[in-house]
Amino acid sequence: MRPPGRRDVPSARPALPLLLLLLSPLLLGAPRGVGAGSGVPAELRVRVRLPDGQVTEESLQADSDADSISLELRKPDGTLISFTADFKKDVKIFRALILGELEKGQSQFQALCFVTRLHHNEIIPSEAMAKLRQKNPRAVRQAEEVRGLEQLHMDIAVNFSQGALLSPHLHNVCAEATEAIYTRQEDAQFWTERGVDSSVFEALPKEQMELPRCGQVRDQGKPCVCRYSLSLAWYPCMLKYCHSRDRPAPYKCGIRSCRKNYSFDFYVPQRQLCLWDEDP
Ligand SMILES: *[C@@H]1O[C@H](CO)[C@@H](O)[C@H](O)[C@H]1NC(C)=O
Ligand SMILES: *[C@@H]1O[C@H](CO)[C@@H](O)[C@H](O)[C@H]1NC(C)=O
Repeated sequence: MRPPGRRDVPSARPALPLLLLLLSPLLLGAPRGVGAGSGVPAELRVRVRLPDGQVTEESLQADSDADSISLELRKPDGTLISFTADFKKDVKIFRALILGELEKGQSQFQALCFVTRLHHNEIIPSEAMAKLRQKNPRAVRQAEEVRGLEQLHMDIAVNFSQGALLSPHLHNVCAEATEAIYTRQEDAQFWTERGVDSSVFEALPKEQMELPRCGQVRDQGKPCVCRYSLSLAWYPCMLKYCHSRDRPAPYKCGIRSCRKNYSFDFYVPQRQLCLWDEDP
């Protein structure tokens, strides 16, 4: 039975029909994809192998009008990871919906949002993403390249109600994480220099730097520094170019896939908001 007041973890969005299924490995289709350029995101669903060997489904959506890409995958433990790249605003958003363990008295799920600067060479352009097709949707894909772990220290907060000033995606993506949206001073500075209103950003308590890691704190009510790590198991990180005798210049003919781990350190006002961080 569902306990009263339970909120369901949002599931991956339903698939849009794909009109074109082109070659395998993934290639860029010459014709424009479903909805590309018409305001309806094009979606690709791929099966990916996680580092621990398990297979999960990943959904990749591209909206070339909004110039954005989003990626969503569910980990075997039920955690839903999503990544949004907003090329217009140089913003990327990571969101984790972490399922609580009911027997430990935890609430249904906990949401975290990490917002950092998007560099345009981190992932392929949205217009190329919208054209990606696969011939064999059952194929299990594994990233061709493993990129190094990126460790980020999230030292300021984002005010959810002002979030649209930073990226129009923030309101949807971080709706469950209103009290837990983090970014970095250096990213905030980059965006404010480009005209984003500084009211988006909020200082965290000054002592945050000196606090112990949550794994070392016993008192559930005490503030501490929490760490959350996530993995983008498979994403198209670069375009591949081919040469042909019929064409004067190299042309885009596919993608290179990458896997990358991120680890975020951030302030929590209470140890109990970081239950996964065990004694290291
Ligand atoms: C990346 O994360 C996955 C799952 O979280 C883990 O199994 C793997 O060892 C990590 N790899 C690196 C290079 O940190
Ligand atoms: C967030 O911004 C709104 C509007 O400026 C403001 O009223 C509110 O107090 C801010 N929230 C926090 C937690 O500072």
